Amino acid sequence: MSVIDIQNIEHNYSGNVHALTGINLSITRGEFVAIIGKNGSGKTTLAKHFNGLLKPTNKNGQVFLRGVDDECFSTQGVPLHKLASTVGYVFQNPDRQIFHDTCREELEFGLRNIDVPGDTWVARVEETLRLVGLAGREEANPVHLSRGERQRLAIASTLVMAPQIAVIDEPTTGQDLDEGRVILDFLANFNRNGKTVVIISHDMALVASYASRVIAMKSGQVLADGTPHDVFSRPEVLEGTNVRPPQAAVLANRLGYHGVLTVQEAIDSLSADRTSHPRGKA
Ligand SMILES: Nc1ncnc2c1ncn2[C@@H]1O[C@H](COP(=O)(O)OP(=O)(O)OP(=O)(O)O)[C@@H](O)[C@H]1O
Ligand SMILES: [Mg+2]
Repeated sequence: MSVIDIQNIEHNYSGNVHALTGINLSITRGEFVAIIGKNGSGKTTLAKHFNGLLKPTNKNGQVFLRGVDDECFSTQGVPLHKLASTVGYVFQNPDRQIFHDTCREELEFGLRNIDVPGDTWVARVEETLRLVGLAGREEANPVHLSRGERQRLAIASTLVMAPQIAVIDEPTTGQDLDEGRVILDFLANFNRNGKTVVIISHDMALVASYASRVIAMKSGQVLADGTPHDVFSRPEVLEGTNVRPPQAAVLANRLGYHGVLTVQEAIDSLSADRTSHPRGKA
């Protein structure tokens, strides 16, 4: 069942910038989607249409969402706070959404906007901070957190509201490898509970490990849309997006093993080949 339906949207910014043209796509409940593409290819502009932060600038462009009650509605004319309870959006720059003096208040602000019993707030805030690797930081002032910690706080402040769909623009910016995994594991867990996740990322190893679908953007259009295996094995996509596929995929492609993405898959392909064509003894 589709939870986001994008029909024929265009987005032009003032100054004659054609950021998106002719986008049609449908995102199904429970998918883990990664949007990839060069800087300026339109990833953020597209993602901001998912929760109504931006609206199509063409007359016949439409964005439809499906909420928790399975009701389908257009983002046109629906107030942002209603859209926010369906689609949680985390900005590329976390400082655009952090305003309070403590992490606790930051998360409680979101809870105040939805109908959650007050006696569950403390546990819910503590649990969400723990899941993003900020356990015990309830009273910390966000200005004293590192860039990576503020990014995780921004994610926590959105996901504490338990939206149906989470859209996170560059979730691992400012994180080291382990912190990046903490965030992606958290999102994977959210996804396993039947929720839909959309990330924008330049980190192809993470995309390959976590996403079930990759949408590659180029010059405001969708260049490719498919499974990570599909998209990463197409040279024209890699060239058009300027992304480097995971090392294992590059090596396997060079050796003639197409459709391989992870180290384990490369090992499996090589082993299978050696079993069917065993090398003679030296
Ligand atoms: N507020 C704005 N006003 C005018 N032009 C904009 C605005 N925001 C983005 N653009 C332009 O629209 C195009 C798409 O930008 P967008 O931010 O969607 O790209 P992106 O793929 O998210 O890039 P990045 O990887 O750098 O975040 C670019 O040409 C960009 O310069
Ligand atoms: Mg962007």
